[in-house]
Amino acid sequence: MERSSDGTPYYRTDLALIHHLGFGFHADLCAPGILAVLEGVRKRDGLVVEVGCGSGLLTRHLVDAGHHVVATDASEAMLDLARGHVPGAGEIRRLTLPDDALPEADAIVSVGHAISYLDDEALLERSLVAMAEALRPGGVLAIDLCDLEWGAARQDQAPKVWRTDDWALMTEFSVPTPTRYVREMTTFVRRPDGSWRRDDERHDNVLVDTSAVPALLARHGVDATVSTSFGGAELPIGLVAVVGLKA
Ligand SMILES: C[S@@+](CC[C@H](N)C(=O)[O-])C[C@H]1O[C@@H](n2cnc3c(N)ncnc32)[C@H](O)[C@@H]1O
Repeated sequence: MERSSDGTPYYRTDLALIHHLGFGFHADLCAPGILAVLEGVRKRDGLVVEVGCGSGLLTRHLVDAGHHVVATDASEAMLDLARGHVPGAGEIRRLTLPDDALPEADAIVSVGHAISYLDDEALLERSLVAMAEALRPGGVLAIDLCDLEWGAARQDQAPKVWRTDDWALMTEFSVPTPTRYVREMTTFVRRPDGSWRRDDERHDNVLVDTSAVPALLARHGVDATVSTSFGGAELPIGLVAVVGLKA
């Protein structure tokens, strides 16, 4: 869900800011491939709905390319950043899958494995079905999510520290089961008076056998493939691009 297993929301103010300032590379990596996949949607002036838009890092690429975008996320702190970062988006609003209804769309996009934040495979599948059902005929799906390989490749991942003048992030990683990847993060953000504020977030990601995703989507009218890129740069190992077309 949008909440971690200890009940606190994912991506509160400080981690949202750190994501925005330090982790734009994934949206930048995905953008060229996604824009190519969406070219037909742009030409017919279709509506793109983005799920898990975060602070608007991919949204910015979409809007700059001329797309009409409704950008959505579960985190209010992320949405606040997105409103500042992408003033040209058609709408930026809270939407948490799988319970909140998706608007009808000519394309649904999502990067940064937003639906892998759900608690289990059943919720992830419900979200995929909701996306398939929200697409209009001829609509395009382009999302990424974590495969079982994500965890298998990160069994003994060493802790990592990112440190800048204004923020720091320390993360410990674990793979307690083949279907779960956990990040335990401590953030520090410098206050205007020079003191530091600490916060802690634990993120659990559900890992699934993504080879089963095309059959699920096919039952809801979407002809999809899974691969290791959106057609441009390769995604990190274990992150899978799902690209589909609604009949
Ligand atoms: C790793 S961030 C990626 C953000 C952005 N797409 C990017 O690439 O910079 C994952 C995002 O998914 C959102 N998210 C997590 N669970 C969600 C859910 N159930 N429904 C919608 N968004 C969710 C989080 O709030 C977060 O903004």
